[in-house]
Amino acid sequence: MSAGKFLQTLAGTRYPTPPVWLMRQAGRYLPEYRAVRATTRSFLEFCYTPDKSVEVTLQPIRRFGLDAAIIFSDILVVPDALGQKVWFEEGEGPKLEALTDPAEFGQLSRARLADKLAPVYEAIKSVRRALPTETALLGFAGAPFTLACYMIEGSGSRDFAKVKLWAYRHPDSFGLLIDLLVEAIVDHLAYQIDAGADAVQLFDSWAGILPEEQLFRWSLEPMVRIAKGLRERHPEVPIIAFPRAVGPAALMYRRPDVFTALSIDTGIGAHWAAENLQPKICLQGNLDPIMLVAGGAALEHEARRILDKLGGGPFVFNLGHGVIPQTPPEHVAQLVDIVRGWKPSVT
Ligand code: CP3
Repeated sequence: MSAGKFLQTLAGTRYPTPPVWLMRQAGRYLPEYRAVRATTRSFLEFCYTPDKSVEVTLQPIRRFGLDAAIIFSDILVVPDALGQKVWFEEGEGPKLEALTDPAEFGQLSRARLADKLAPVYEAIKSVRRALPTETALLGFAGAPFTLACYMIEGSGSRDFAKVKLWAYRHPDSFGLLIDLLVEAIVDHLAYQIDAGADAVQLFDSWAGILPEEQLFRWSLEPMVRIAKGLRERHPEVPIIAFPRAVGPAALMYRRPDVFTALSIDTGIGAHWAAENLQPKICLQGNLDPIMLVAGGAALEHEARRILDKLGGGPFVFNLGHGVIPQTPPEHVAQLVDIVRGWKPSVT
């Protein structure tokens, strides 16, 4: 069995304190990230330059000694590799040449994915070699629905009406896009594991905008197909599912036969999660990223509250969403100390 607290926790071992890592732990809140980022104009080019992606992946590990690293990349490298035009505009976020007609799906192809994303796999190889053996390396991908949101809207959106209208009015053609994404994501995750990723996380950041039945069809079911497809190639790989903002529908994702752990966002109460989810599946989460900006007594109180509810395990301490740029790095160090110094209160 693989070494290290994070992987062992996913495999069922209990420790006195849970492992800890943070979504978006590499990013603009770190001055050393901004320094490397400033050397490349285009964000995608930055993602595809192994020397740079390796360096920024390792930065938060060096600073904070977290239990897992996550390869520095982006979920939108998959649409890019499928042949859709993707770029990032300074201060505005991602832009894509939006798909407006199912006929355009035909121009997308998995044929070039391995070549196009080779720099990601090369970076994973180097990061794995550079990391201490006890530090796990996570690969990741966006889940099909979240990728479809960006591919059809052409950017982030307030209500994602275009993608929803397409899915509701033309489920057959929407299903073709989802099917293509399922296959591309299985490939991308399998190549990341081949290169040395120890576990993978699927980000379904926009799952929460779908009503229940649509959520099952376009978020959960494709994620289950990905997990099963991946396990045909890598039977033992731990898979973490992150269906963000789904509320009590998180119960649908409580599938220990399919997912190794469920990452929960801040909207899910730790007490409810401890009663309804954790008895069946390992959880990861769910500190409010703004608490990490606040720091001090507020951060300490909230981190301890989560630990008291969920810390007995199986549990991985994380945020409910990614670290935001305004976060003072010292607060991350404070949080790691709180998690590692936690003792269950005697009840
Ligand atoms: O440290 C890590 O977690 C690994 C790297 C990582 C990034 N993006 C780097 C990044 C990961 C796991 C992602 C996932 C991602 N990307 C998601 C899913 C998670 C979530 O946040 O819901 C989504 C929806 C995206 C798409 C995306 N990429 C957006 C909306 C943005 C702009 C937001 C912003 O903060 O500007 C990006 C750009 C991006 N991806 C940055 C980083 C560090 C910031 C760009 C920069 O540094 O110039």
